[in-house]
Amino acid sequence: KKKADFQGKRILITAGPTREAIDPVRYLTNRSSGRMGYALADAAVARGADVALVSGPVSLEKPEGVEFYPVQSAAEMYDRVMDLKDKADVIIMCAAVADYTPIVCAEHKMKKQDALVIEFEKTRDILAEVGKTKHAFLAGFAAETQNLEGYARDKLSRKNLDMIIANDVSGTETGFDSEYNAVSIYTRDGKAVHFTRDTKRNLADSILTEIAKISG
Ligand code: PMT
Repeated sequence: KKKADFQGKRILITAGPTREAIDPVRYLTNRSSGRMGYALADAAVARGADVALVSGPVSLEKPEGVEFYPVQSAAEMYDRVMDLKDKADVIIMCAAVADYTPIVCAEHKMKKQDALVIEFEKTRDILAEVGKTKHAFLAGFAAETQNLEGYARDKLSRKNLDMIIANDVSGTETGFDSEYNAVSIYTRDGKAVHFTRDTKRNLADSILTEIAKISG
């Protein structure tokens, strides 16, 4: 029998990378495929939730049954999340938001030159901003290549989260752009739960089960 433990809950999920324009034909991005966030959206719908999915540009099919909000840049994702956050009971930020964006986007395609210097500025941290005025259960992800627990716990407290889902992104067997992942989940009570390598869809269910235990 299908679990409907998220019936009547509104879940906001972010997924995928962002694209930061350099000129009309070039952009800066990262290796996120959107798979982990889309798996969470799919699992949440299957468990009865009303799901809003804010997605950066990916090549995946939109999961059935979600309210879909495609965005390109970190700034667009910020605006969309700010619009939607107050309606959500649970927010899961899985997107790999660019940390830097070019200060200017050239109006025309840049001509070739011997050396190129592009100046970047920091983007706004969407997760930290949501954490400041928190009404919903808030879960973030931490993508790390070292000191997984230390960095994850630091983000958990600094960004005022209820849960952080940490994944090691140093290899190719899990993490970015794989069908598989392995995650460690840290919560404010100091506890940790570890899930070894599995499909992102199965891990999505495990993550939702951990959220249900705390958010009720
Ligand atoms: O998309 P896939 O190929 O399936 O890969 C999945 C994944 C590895 C991208 C995913 O599991 C993951 O770890 N997502 C978070 C990636 C990331 O940007 O991590 P971070 O440690 O740099 O950021 C920490 C948290 O802050 C994240 O919840 C992120 O969404 C959020 N953030 C970061 C920067 C920013 N400007 N705004 C944010 O909200």
